[in-house]
Amino acid sequence: MIIKLATGLLFSFLLGFSEDVLSGDKEAGEARYNETCINCHGPAGKGVASYPKISGKEVSYTKLKLETYRDGVKIGPNSSLMFMMAKPLTDEEIANLAAYLKDARYE
Ligand code: HEC
Repeated sequence: MIIKLATGLLFSFLLGFSEDVLSGDKEAGEARYNETCINCHGPAGKGVASYPKISGKEVSYTKLKLETYRDGVKIGPNSSLMFMMAKPLTDEEIANLAAYLKDARYE
């Protein structure tokens, strides 16, 4: 009985864990977004003036862009602004940010 319970707990823990790593944790992504990204991209990634809207995109799209900037590879004319923002991001933070931004809405 105890063993069964423990196995169940362990299983749901592992499941929850792998889900976070694979598909990203939206809440952690939102917290990270609000630390710095919001200063340029605005609330919920809605975009401000020349800073692009970054919400509502596929997770794979956002991940690829952030990884490209992290590698220091230019995308648009103002990529240097993103290089310094993306450099310190871990794979996990990128996954979390991408998960949050996919469904982020500004009301
Ligand atoms: C200093 C202002 C600034 C900050 C802070 C900033 N960005 Fe950006 N971001 C930009 C600019 C400017 C671009 C367009 C860069 C280019 O020309 O390649 C951009 C582009 C992007 C893109 C690609 C958009 C597209 O569709 O091509 C993503 C994704 C992105 N930013 C995410 C983030 C995230 C996540 C953070 C926080 C970790 C962040 N940005 C912080 C200014 C900023």
